[in-house]
Amino acid sequence: MHFSAFIATALTGLAAASPAHHFQDKSTAQIAYTYSNGTFTKPINVKINNGTQKLSSGGTVTDVFVAPPFDGRRYVLTSCSFQAPTNKSLGAVSIRKPTTVPVHPPAAVGFVTCTSD
Ligand SMILES: *[C@@H]1O[C@H](CO)[C@@H](O)[C@H](O)[C@H]1NC(C)=O
Ligand SMILES: *[C@@H]1O[C@H](CO)[C@@H](O)[C@H](O)[C@H]1NC(C)=O
Ligand SMILES: *[C@@H]1O[C@H](CO)[C@@H](O)[C@H](O)[C@H]1NC(C)=O
Repeated sequence: MHFSAFIATALTGLAAASPAHHFQDKSTAQIAYTYSNGTFTKPINVKINNGTQKLSSGGTVTDVFVAPPFDGRRYVLTSCSFQAPTNKSLGAVSIRKPTTVPVHPPAAVGFVTCTSD
């Protein structure tokens, strides 16, 4: 939980510092991996409704921060599913605001699929 709070705070700061247009892209969500050693990645862009994308975490992940697309007024309801490099399902979430999703048990992520209406 400590790291989850930390990552959310870090990304909020980053969002405030970035150009607004970046966050009004309705076709792109962003994810960031938190590793079991407590470090985390920069936000990674994920295309919405464009199939399964290979986004290897390269290490064991304890949390994934997911920020859905922002249409200029509000966040867009988005579903994302996560798969291990072996394609084993690690679960799925539906979110309508930036959310930190725990990975239970912690695992390496290989593929991400995000969809939205
Ligand atoms: C969807 O992915 C394909 C490759 O998998 C790419 O060629 C295409 O440009 C992508 N479409 C969008 C809207 O990003
Ligand atoms: C934490 O783990 C990740 C993934 O295994 C690795 O890329 C990163 O270098 C590690 N960071 C530290 C400080 O050990
Ligand atoms: C897992 O799925 C991806 C995308 O659907 C595919 O490109 C890859 O070959 C699959 N890997 C395995 C080990 O089945």
